[in-house]
This record gives sequence, C-alpha cells and structure tokens, in this order.
Amino acid sequence: MAATDPVTSPAGAQDPAKRHESIVVLDFGSQFSMLIARRVRELNTYCELLPYDVPRERLAGMDVRGIILSGGPNSVYEEGAPLAPDWVWESGLPVLGICYGMQVMAHQLGGQVAPGAEREYGPAVVHRDHAAPLLDGLPADFEVWMSHGDRIEVLPPGFAGYASTANSPFAVMADPSRGYYGLQFHPEVVHTPRGKDILRNFVHGVCGAQGTWTPGNFIEETVEAIRAQVGSGRVICGLSGGVDSAVAAVLVHRAVGDHLVCIFVDNGLLRAGEAEEVVTTFRKNLAINLVHVDAAEEFLAQLAEVTNPETKRVRIGNTFVRVFEREARKVEGARFLCQGTLYPDVIESGSHGKGASTIKTHHNVGGLPADMKFELVEPLRYLFKDEVRRIGEALGLPDEMVWRHPFPGPGLAIRCIGEVTREKLEILRRADRIVMDEIREAGLYRDLWQAFAVLTDTKTVGVMGDFRTYGYAVAVRAVVADDAMTADWARLPHELLSRISNRVVNEVHGVNRVVYDITPKPPGTIEWE
Ligand code: XMP
Repeated sequence: MAATDPVTSPAGAQDPAKRHESIVVLDFGSQFSMLIARRVRELNTYCELLPYDVPRERLAGMDVRGIILSGGPNSVYEEGAPLAPDWVWESGLPVLGICYGMQVMAHQLGGQVAPGAEREYGPAVVHRDHAAPLLDGLPADFEVWMSHGDRIEVLPPGFAGYASTANSPFAVMADPSRGYYGLQFHPEVVHTPRGKDILRNFVHGVCGAQGTWTPGNFIEETVEAIRAQVGSGRVICGLSGGVDSAVAAVLVHRAVGDHLVCIFVDNGLLRAGEAEEVVTTFRKNLAINLVHVDAAEEFLAQLAEVTNPETKRVRIGNTFVRVFEREARKVEGARFLCQGTLYPDVIESGSHGKGASTIKTHHNVGGLPADMKFELVEPLRYLFKDEVRRIGEALGLPDEMVWRHPFPGPGLAIRCIGEVTREKLEILRRADRIVMDEIREAGLYRDLWQAFAVLTDTKTVGVMGDFRTYGYAVAVRAVVADDAMTADWARLPHELLSRISNRVVNEVHGVNRVVYDITPKPPGTIEWE
C-alpha cells in the first residue's frame, strides 16, 4: 500500500509517468499533437504532451524511453522558429520527428531544409527504399497523409534516406545507430492506415517500451493513490450520468468505499429513463452511497418564461451550484471533491501537469462559495476520453453509460426551443426516445458523435385521417465528428429516417411533422441553442 508513496501527485491521481515507461511528445503546435499522444497510449505506453521548450527538469523522475517531435506550422529556417532544446540531443534517447519535427531534427543535426517547389498536401504513396526498424512489417509501398511545404535538401551527417514519395526524396530519414527517425508524413492520422504500425515499431521496437500502461494497472495504481490522498476522509462526487463522473466515482468507491457520497442533481432536464438509470446503476448495482436530489421544480421555476439560450444556461448553472452546495453541506466531514477532469482539460488549462487544478465550468461546481473548500480528487486527469471508456468497461460499468454520447449540462432545456415547460419536455422526451431507439436498433449509435431530437417552437398544419392537425415540428439531429469542434450531419439511411418520422408522428401526441437537420458545423452548431 502506498500511504507514504512519494509519487502521488497533489491532485490525487498517481502520476503514471513516474511508474511507467513513458514517451514524451514535444508539441510544436500541430493540430495533431494530441492525437500522437493518444496513438502512443493505444500501444499501452504512457505518453505525455509537453511544450516543445519544456525544461529537462520537468522530466525528473520520469522513466522516459523516447521522444517524439510533433509537426507544427513554422519553417525551421525562419528567424525565431521553435527548435528542440539541447537536452533532447544530449539525452541519448531515441527521437522520432514528424513533419515539422523531422525538419527540426534535420536542421539541428546539420542537414539543410528549404522551401519545397510544391506543397505536398493530402494522400501520397511512400516507397520503401531500404529496410529500417521503423518500417518493419510494412509493404514496399504504403499510403500516407502528407502536409508540408518545406523539404529536406541535405540530410544531416549519419543519416540516410529510407523511403521516398514522388515529391519527397526523403519521406523517411534515419540514423538507426542513434535511434533517430524522421517522417515527412503523419503516422498518427487515420489517413495513414499503417501509421499505427510505424508508431508501434518506434515505441516498442526502437524505444523498447514493454507496454505496461493497461486499464488493469491503471485501476490498481489509481485506487492506491486515492487511498493515499484521502486516508479516512470523506469524498463527495457530483454525478451527471455521463461517463467521466461515473468512472471517477467508481474508482473513488473502490478506494474508500462508504467514505464516498455521490450527489446526483436531477434537474428535470434529462432524457427519458436517464435519472432512473443513474440511480439503479449506482445504488443497486454498485452499492454506492447516492443522494438523488429531485430538483426539477426548482430548475423549471427558474426557466419560466425564459427563451434566450444563454439565459437558460446561466439560470441552470446557478441553480445547479445552489442545489449542489445545499446537499454537499449535509455531508458531514467531507473534505474532498471528486471531479472527472480529463487530460485535455489539464493540457488546455496550460498547467501541463501538477498543481494547477482548474474546476471545469461546465461541471458547474466552479461557483461554490469560498467557505466551501475542498481538496480535489481527480483520478482521470491523465486520461483521454477513449481511455476513460476503456477503464469504464474494465470496471464493469454498463455499456449505455460507458458509450453514452456527450450530453450538455443544460440538458433538454437547450433542445426545447423557446420557453421550457413540463409539457414540452415530455413531448421532447418521447420523440427523443424514438430517435435513439431506432438509431440503436439500426446499429448506428456508436458511429455517431451525437444524435437527438429537438422540439422546435414552430407549429405546422398536418392531416391525420379526416382531421386537420396543428402540431409541433420535431427536428432530428445526428452528427459525425472526431471532437465537437467540427461536425458533419450523418448520412442516415432513408429507411431509418422514414421509420423515425412515422413513429414520432404516430406515437408522440402533439407532433405532426419531422425534419432532418442537414447543416454541418461550422456554420451550424451541434445543438440548436
Ligand atoms: P455546439 O452546439 O456548440 O456543441 O456545437 C459542442 C458540444 O458541446 C455540447 N454543449 C454543451 N455542453 N454545456 C455543456 O456541458 C453547454 O452549455 C453546452 N452547449 C453545447 C454539445 O452537446 C456538443 O457536444
């Protein structure tokens, strides 16, 4: 047991970098930098994304096995272009440069980089000219994704070219004796189908990492770390029904059992059956202390006559904090607050590591009064979302919870256009349930980023039997995306749309029309409000 374990970070999660073989990605600003880290972690190897100029001391105590230099928007020959710190080249560690990272490597080690005659962007075929450990198991020709303007004119001393494309004589350069590799293309994106094999060859082959960063190990170590942090203290945790807070709570429960109290604020804005699912899963199946607060009245009262989307959000956020605070004060002796903060939040908050915990505003506990001082327990602060899901599965959480689409904090309030009333929420719940049931039935749930019904504020004329109707139009929204920054509308099969439309109009009283939203983001947003 690790009650005095010095490797426990102040934020309550065990710093995996101190325990596991790690790969460090130095971030030169590519939009794919985070993706590189995720891909390395898929190889069961812990990986951290750090600023390109991180001082060597930041790595103290870490078991670093290799370094990856990411891509980036600069040109190395420009004044003030970002370069790798000297310690990288002095460390004796294997280094993989990707795109701009490759040019950094060439430039700093004595080669020559110049603007390419032609920009190479998009798919290309790489031909392997010589065998190299990095290309083990790959065919002689393989597809890659290119995105660069500059190219390497002269290789640095000790390097040779191992593969080429029609436009790049040095698509892969290497000095295998030092474990230095450069790739002109992006192995981390899906458009480089064999990219994962190349990264595996680097991480497991060149760097010799054993692949010990597994869900099982993570759970064991995190439970130890939480015990060490919390001791015999009490922890409260706000549950939303989403995967992050659920996984965080289950980890804390494994560590401290009944010393955890979960607070589930039911704001009356959840989808059909959702509140019951949370209560059953946590109380019955997992035997976790759960306070179920039915605060629907309070939230709906705050939303009366409100039509402005941002006002809805503010009112809901404020009400949440008030209710949560009230309930939290009832938990005697609670000193710790468990949060489902993820690694991307930690990176984005700029802390790149320890100490600088920020409370996510959309978790809505950011506004707790100053006299309510909690020490944060953040067991997921080293994880990406897909890793949280893997842990959730390993912990035995139900599939519906682990794979649930993102659902906004303000819930159905921002999918019920105009004023939010009980009656309209009920109509929306019924329509939404049909949309989701049909999408699940068609086996498409996991292919979609999000799917849902929107109750528009528009009534239209219809005809049913011999009667003229005047009812609401429901919009169906289904999008595909890798993250919520951009999205495209899902090309759902017409038969599926037809079933949804028939069922909604026939089964949901008050609705007589269904439309499908075919707007990508941008210019649209995913939600309607
Ligand atoms: P938009 O509609 O901006 O949504 O394209 C992007 C992602 O964010 C979610 N979303 C929210 N989540 N509070 C939340 O917790 C909010 O106020 C909120 N608004 C949008 C949305 O569901 C999508 O996943």
